[in-house]
Amino acid sequence: MTKIDLLIRNAKELLTLSSSFKDASGLGIIPNGAIAVREGRIFWIGRTDQLPGDFVLCPEGREIDAKGKVVMPGLIDSHTHLIFAGSRENEFEQRVQGLSYLEIAGRGGGILSTVEATRKASFAELFSLGKKRLNRLLSTGVTTIEAKSGYGLSLEDELKILRVMKALQKDHPVDIVPTFLGAHAIPKEFKDERSKYINLLVQEMIPEAAREGLAEFCDVFCEEKAFSIEESREILETGKRHGLKPKIHADQLSPGGGAELAAELGAYSADHLEYVSQKGMERMAEKGVTAVLLPGASFFLSMGIYPPAREMIERGVSVSLSTDLNPGSSMTESLPLMMTMGCLFYRMTPQEVVQATTIHAAKSMGRGEEIGSLDTGKKADVLVLDIPNYKYFPYHFGVDHVKTVIKEGKIVHKGPKLYTDSVP
Ligand code: NIG
Ligand code: FE
Repeated sequence: MTKIDLLIRNAKELLTLSSSFKDASGLGIIPNGAIAVREGRIFWIGRTDQLPGDFVLCPEGREIDAKGKVVMPGLIDSHTHLIFAGSRENEFEQRVQGLSYLEIAGRGGGILSTVEATRKASFAELFSLGKKRLNRLLSTGVTTIEAKSGYGLSLEDELKILRVMKALQKDHPVDIVPTFLGAHAIPKEFKDERSKYINLLVQEMIPEAAREGLAEFCDVFCEEKAFSIEESREILETGKRHGLKPKIHADQLSPGGGAELAAELGAYSADHLEYVSQKGMERMAEKGVTAVLLPGASFFLSMGIYPPAREMIERGVSVSLSTDLNPGSSMTESLPLMMTMGCLFYRMTPQEVVQATTIHAAKSMGRGEEIGSLDTGKKADVLVLDIPNYKYFPYHFGVDHVKTVIKEGKIVHKGPKLYTDSVP
């Protein structure tokens, strides 16, 4: 007799994303699939008709009948700016009326306006805003996110943001992988003394964030109007010396060699990449740097320019898709919407957008052994979708298909009750 905490059976398509179940779809699909969970991990996975006969559900155990549904790994959002205060709908209106993102930033809006609001906000306010965003992410099927600081830009305010993340991590089922992004912009008090801010980053902020164990990654906004290649190299190398793994916002608004720098430094990911060069793609493929693409940002900024996703995939670069959740360039928590955009803007296939939000997203944050695929011993982060097959997920867009979200074997979210459910 084997005690089981959670049993999912009869899934029409069980997407494992695991090489143990290789198939023509590339997603390792088990038809009529089942999963047995014990102590938060996958204990057994296979066809429902092959479930071992000695499995017994614990008294408090749960059973889910996934008949006619798709079951897959919980989604992973590999690039968010989770913690910020205020909102920028006025800038949104100005952009609709014709001003550009950079023009607005030049007039005192942009990142620095959110920095002002975030500095003023208390720990409790930021915690409550972050919790609401995590709840929205969870309701779209997300079970792990990467989250960047970057709206504090002083030692105290960056640490405040990272501590809010740590507190949310303890309070909320969605796992948070924290990234220090003190190099998001030059704060206004250092406007004419950028090298002093770089020194502050390198000498105080990075060492302190690392010392307190508040960040796992270090990121830089490497861009003509933000941090140069040389500054980015110095910041990321300092991060590495303090045990922070590198990531980089690269080639978003102009071509700048960010992808090449990501490869040189052995970064886990290079993100955005609208203006990536041929050389940059080549180097990323060689070094195994994941491309984190953010279709919400080019959509929301009406950029009309897209990163060469197909070319990257053909060169063997792992491509991840994420929301870039932030108040300026991508105000959304919907990763499923990014999947649809990935298909339509980047010409990624439904199979590729599923990989981009699971296994490749896990790789971009060094979590490939634990999450992003379903196999024996992995975390039981599982999504049950009320759709007939995986291609349907990006196809029927802008609506909620989530039936159940399971985090480490526990049911943490159930899809909305439909009107017919509430009729007596
Ligand atoms: O990822 N690229 C840098 N930062 C954000 C935008 C931040 C903002 O406008 O507040 C981004 O697009
Ligand atoms: Fe970003």
